Amino acid sequence: MTENPDKFREAKSILEAQGIQIRQLKRPKVEVQDSSLEKIARFAVKTASVDHTGLLLVEDSGLFIDVLGGFPGPFSSYVYKTIGLKGILSLMHDQRKRNAHFQTSIAVASTNVSPRVFTGTVRGSVSREIRGTAGFGYDPIFIPEGFRETFGQTKAGFKNKTSHRARAFLKFANWYNRSRTGRHRVRTHKRALK
Ligand code: IMP
Repeated sequence: MTENPDKFREAKSILEAQGIQIRQLKRPKVEVQDSSLEKIARFAVKTASVDHTGLLLVEDSGLFIDVLGGFPGPFSSYVYKTIGLKGILSLMHDQRKRNAHFQTSIAVASTNVSPRVFTGTVRGSVSREIRGTAGFGYDPIFIPEGFRETFGQTKAGFKNKTSHRARAFLKFANWYNRSRTGRHRVRTHKRALK
């Protein structure tokens, strides 16, 4: 469950490589205000799965900048729409310490599966200028650790192997595929992910 087509496209591609199909459910999600993406995602999936027998996934992501005390974090969407990338860069114009991380938390549940959360992070730094047009959101100002280019300058294949989203969805895929092979069972009526 996400209304963001970019996030869905990435999640779909990551999961297809693991043999898992998903479809996008464009329902508005209920978002509580909290500093923890895990709690926000868990609350949203709990609310949405009350009357849903298929397995639902709710994804919440954000960029956490160390020197700004983790800002924008859970407010990443609002900050992106208001001050945008230029606003973030000007908040940091005199900062030498530019460490940051992206986080994705996915909460999974259905009427039969109690909520479970999978989290992935990628550390890196905030660039000094907007670089590249690939990806979406904060990608053009985020340089993953060990690399020189922003996610905005790299191909989708690279981001989908190294990103916070890839790490979170791979954890989910391992759990889901183990449950399919019966090592631990997901008690759900439908196997299709919604
Ligand atoms: P939300 O999870 O839909 O609330 O997304 C929060 C904000 O973070 C949105 O403005 C997205 O553009 C941004 N965002 C989420 N994931 C990514 C990513 O993988 N790269 C860059 N920006 C992202």
